[in-house]
Amino acid sequence: MKDDTTSNPNNVVGQAGEIQSEDRCRLFKQQGLVLWFTGLSGSGKSTIAIEVEKKLVAYGRAVNRLDGDNLRQGLNRDLKFSEEDRDENIRRITEVALLFKDAAFITLVSAIAPYIKMRKFARNRIGSDHFMEVYVKASLEECIKRDPKGLYKKAISGQLENFTGISDPYEEPENPDLVLDTMKFSVNQCAEQVWGRVCENFV
Ligand code: ADX
Repeated sequence: MKDDTTSNPNNVVGQAGEIQSEDRCRLFKQQGLVLWFTGLSGSGKSTIAIEVEKKLVAYGRAVNRLDGDNLRQGLNRDLKFSEEDRDENIRRITEVALLFKDAAFITLVSAIAPYIKMRKFARNRIGSDHFMEVYVKASLEECIKRDPKGLYKKAISGQLENFTGISDPYEEPENPDLVLDTMKFSVNQCAEQVWGRVCENFV
């Protein structure tokens, strides 16, 4: 008998139920979808996701939001901001998003996800047909000016380590499905752009 303890070190055996994701989608009359809002802190990811959520709910869609800041107070409270911890943060968020997508929810993720490799991981794990990378774009200078949480100030004065854009990298999306220019468009205009794209492709 083949010893597969290397690929399955914990000897766990999953069991599929008889109700599939497609059955849930049919029942709820919608497709599971993950919209991943990536961008610098202060770029507007959460604010725009909240607007998009309102629009989709008003249209009768089942939506859920997974917010990096919020999840770091519960599920991910053991993680900090080293590359390793950020990767684990994104891995866990991806797994949760996948569960919601399989349950036919439209899932709005707002998390910096600064590394291209982890955003690729999320796309592959969730499946390209059900995943949109939305780049919430604002220059670093603009985010420093906005500084809604006062964190840039702390990072620049050296009170906060590994801060994205200041002392830690942010790898810009190379091929995002949608770019929201938050220096040009209002929150509502950006939310409209997302809404338009979701309607075109999924709803
Ligand atoms: S991620 O890089 O792992 O994707 P995530 O989106 O979950 O980050 O969390 C980012 C939020 O944590 C920021 O919006 C900010 O409020 C807070 N934060 C605290 N410390 C840092 C830091 N060093 N770098 C970036 N964000 C930080």
